[in-house]
Amino acid sequence: MSDRETLNIESMDDILTRNEIAINKIRDRLATDPNNEGRQLRVCTQTYGCQMNEHDSEKLTAMLAEMGYIPTAQYDDADLIIFNTCCVRENAELRVFGNLGHIKKIKEKKPDLILAVCGCMMQQPHIVDAIKRQYRHVDLVFGTHNLHNFPELLLSFMDTHKQVVEIWQSEGDIIEGLPADRKFDVKAFVNIMYGCNNFCAYCIVPYTRGRERSRKPEDVLAEIKMLADNGVKEIMLLGQNVNSYGKTFETPYDFADLLRDVNAISGIERIRFMTSHPKDISDKLLETIASCEHVCESLHLPVQAGSNRVLTAMNRHYTREQYLEIIRKARVLMPNIGVTTDIIVGFPGETYEEFLETLDLVKTVGYDSAFTFIYSKRTGTPAADIEDLTTDEEKHRRFDMLLNTVQDIVKEKMKTYANQTVTVLVENFSKHSEALLMGRTPQGITVTFEGDASHIGKLVDIKITKPKHFSLYGEIVAEH
Ligand code: 5AD
Ligand code: SF4
Repeated sequence: MSDRETLNIESMDDILTRNEIAINKIRDRLATDPNNEGRQLRVCTQTYGCQMNEHDSEKLTAMLAEMGYIPTAQYDDADLIIFNTCCVRENAELRVFGNLGHIKKIKEKKPDLILAVCGCMMQQPHIVDAIKRQYRHVDLVFGTHNLHNFPELLLSFMDTHKQVVEIWQSEGDIIEGLPADRKFDVKAFVNIMYGCNNFCAYCIVPYTRGRERSRKPEDVLAEIKMLADNGVKEIMLLGQNVNSYGKTFETPYDFADLLRDVNAISGIERIRFMTSHPKDISDKLLETIASCEHVCESLHLPVQAGSNRVLTAMNRHYTREQYLEIIRKARVLMPNIGVTTDIIVGFPGETYEEFLETLDLVKTVGYDSAFTFIYSKRTGTPAADIEDLTTDEEKHRRFDMLLNTVQDIVKEKMKTYANQTVTVLVENFSKHSEALLMGRTPQGITVTFEGDASHIGKLVDIKITKPKHFSLYGEIVAEH
């Protein structure tokens, strides 16, 4: 086994050069390997978790495209399978282990199949130990901090045919200039920062994604200009807590400044961002969202809980009253702003009365949608040591109550759109029917409607003829 646990401080140029060399070697090797009989090799990437992971998978796909791999959705016709994992909740981890077992059977029939696992789960030593001991059929293991090294690691496996494990325990410098050969869709993700310093008591992310570090504004803006030049119309700025962007810069430049500069890039019609932490939302930021033409009036603002005692125990650094005040201010500036959130039920020690405070807050805010979760114990986080006497059955009961409440609110909101006209950026054909297109309102609501490929990438006005439970249906009445 080659078990490399090094963290060499190298210049960015060295890293890029070594990467490029590895990519070229793999491309040449695959192209001349008689076993491949001139056929294109295929990679199946399965991504778990958040947009950050989705974007990391896009970066892997870009590197693999340079090596000559094309994507496939099927395990069965893949030459390489990658699991990009998430460890925010236990059930996502269990699914990964279940799937690794499944791939073992496929590999028995197809021994040349390469299996790689990466992402947040791999930043936890007990997981990597389990893979080394019990999942010997995994060929390549790497973490979130050394994703850029993937070509070298893959080459190392191709050379040795021995399990390669390389995890960096600390984050290192931000690597700029990795292959960016993306398939340019209407929308693109752009990282603006990595890591998180907040240490919410339940959350494993600060331990797996490392300390907060912001990309330089000039790097972010150059990437977005490149995307705009390639026809991208909508940008999703990504970070665990975008509101603390730039805190470590010597020259003051914050997230609101970045939004203003992105707003000025010609060709970008829509700018979204996630995730915001309520403790860091400034008036300047709300005013910037309101005043920048291309910044969508939409705020994903995780509240997590409605009780002040639980919020303190979660280490969230705001009160229910402060949270509601942000929403009030945002709605004064932008009456139509879409507000979405994340909520956890069953945090250790949460009483039924405290849970009812969450339900009450959900009704008070009237969210446009909410991601709801049952608390999942994560070893190593402070909450894992809090006594938890609530039964699973009770947690599920609370979860169902919360979900029903959210769904009732969303259904009522959808009805108010009947006969209204909304502006939608046309993203693609609908997943459900090639005869329909889909796009989103500035608030983030999905709209389906009839149209053809020529509309994709354009802004159109849609008259809503049929509100559905969680989305809208309508017809094009004008093109911009
Ligand atoms: N259990 C349940 N939900 C969690 N989240 C983060 N950690 C946990 C956990 N241990 C949720 C939070 C966060 C979202 C991305 O995942 O709501 O905002
Ligand atoms: Fe986790 Fe809290 Fe950081 Fe979000 S802000 S990633 S919930 S620690």
